[in-house]
Amino acid sequence: MIDIVVGLQWGDEGKGKITDYMSEEYDWVVRYQGGSNAGHTVYVDGKKYVTHSLPVGVLRPNIRSVITHGCVVNPEELVKEITELEEMGIDFTNRLFISKDATVITRNHLIQDEDNKKEWGSTGKGIGPAYRDKYDRKAIKLESVVSDRSYKKLVPFLTDTRELLYTAERNHEKILMEGAQAVMLDIDFGTYPYVTSSPCTANYAPQGTGLPLHMFGDSSITGVVKAYTTRIGTGPFPTEFSCPTFTEMLREAGGEYGATTGRPRRMGWLDMDQLRYACEVNGVTNLAITKLDVLSCLDEINIKDDALSDTLIKFPSWELTGNEKTWDDLPAELKNYVSFISFETGCIVSMVGVGQNRDQLICVE
Ligand code: IMP
Ligand code: MG
Repeated sequence: MIDIVVGLQWGDEGKGKITDYMSEEYDWVVRYQGGSNAGHTVYVDGKKYVTHSLPVGVLRPNIRSVITHGCVVNPEELVKEITELEEMGIDFTNRLFISKDATVITRNHLIQDEDNKKEWGSTGKGIGPAYRDKYDRKAIKLESVVSDRSYKKLVPFLTDTRELLYTAERNHEKILMEGAQAVMLDIDFGTYPYVTSSPCTANYAPQGTGLPLHMFGDSSITGVVKAYTTRIGTGPFPTEFSCPTFTEMLREAGGEYGATTGRPRRMGWLDMDQLRYACEVNGVTNLAITKLDVLSCLDEINIKDDALSDTLIKFPSWELTGNEKTWDDLPAELKNYVSFISFETGCIVSMVGVGQNRDQLICVE
C-alpha cells in the first residue's frame, strides 16, 4: 500500500508535521523529489526537529526512511544533517536508505545558484543547477562521489531504492510518500518561472521512486493546506496582504520564517481558486488543514473565492484554549471555516492542526 502527502500552496503548509503524524501507521517514509531546499519542522515532546534532505520518518524509531533517485543531494549537507540528528539521539543504523543514483549537488552548483537567490528568491541550495545538469546529462550520481571523498559516512546507506521499495510493496508493507515544496512551486504546474526545479505534485511519485503506476491505484493523497497562505521568494501571490503591519502581526503569530533560509514569509488569505486547482492537479482524496490556531488572533478571517464572490468572503474568528483534543471540542466558528473549505473543494477534511505538537492534530469525524 502506498499513500502520498503533498503541499497544496507554495510550500511550508506543514507537510512535515502531517507526515510525522501519519507515519506511525507506515513502515516506510520516502522523499522522491527536491533536496535540501525543503525544511520540514516537527515538534516532538516540545523538542524542535528540522529535516531538509531527510524524510521526517527518521523521527520515529520503527520507520525506515528513503531518499530516492528523484532527489538531488548535497552530500556535505546530508552528512551534517545526519550527524546533527544523531547528536539529538536518532539512530540511523539499518533504517536509512539513499539511492546510489541520486543526483549530486556540487560546490559549483551552489556558486551558480547565488544569482538565482537574487533573481528568484531561490534558497541558494543548488537545486536548479543540479537538476539542469541532470537533464543536460552531465550530472554526477551519488555513488561515484561517496567512495573517494570525505562522504564515507553515507556509504552504508547507499542502495538501489527502487528495488527495495518494489519488494516492500510486494510484501504488503505500508509506504508513505513525503512530498516537498508544493504544486504552485512545481516546475510544470506552478507559477513558472517563479518555481523550483523539480516536479512537486503527487503525480511524480511513480517516476521519482521507479514504482509502477498500478501500485498507486488505491493511494490516498493527503493534500496539506495552511488555514491562510504564505510564500517565500519572488512571484505572483493573488491574496497577499497589502498592509505591512497586519502582515507582520500574523507572521509573528504563525512563526512564518523559512525553515531553510530564515527569510520572512509573504502572507495572505486562503485562495479557494488556487486550492481547487491544487486539488485537481494532485488528485487529492483528503485534506489536512494546518495552523488554524494562528487565525484565532484575528477578529475576522477572509477567503478569496472568485467562483462565489468578487469580493472576499468573511468568516468570524474563533477562540482556542489549547486543550482541544477532539473535533467535538472545537468551536463552531472553526468548524464552519473547515466545512466551507471542504464543501468548496469537494474534498473531505481528515485532519485539522490547532497547535505545534503532535497531539494538537485532530482527526475529523
Ligand atoms: P529553489 O528551489 O531553491 O531554487 O527556490 C525556488 C523557489 O522555491 C524560491 O521562491 C524558494 O523560496 C521556493 N522554495 C523552494 N523550496 C521551498 C520550500 O521547501 N518551501 C517554501 N518555498 C520553497
Ligand atoms: Mg518548509
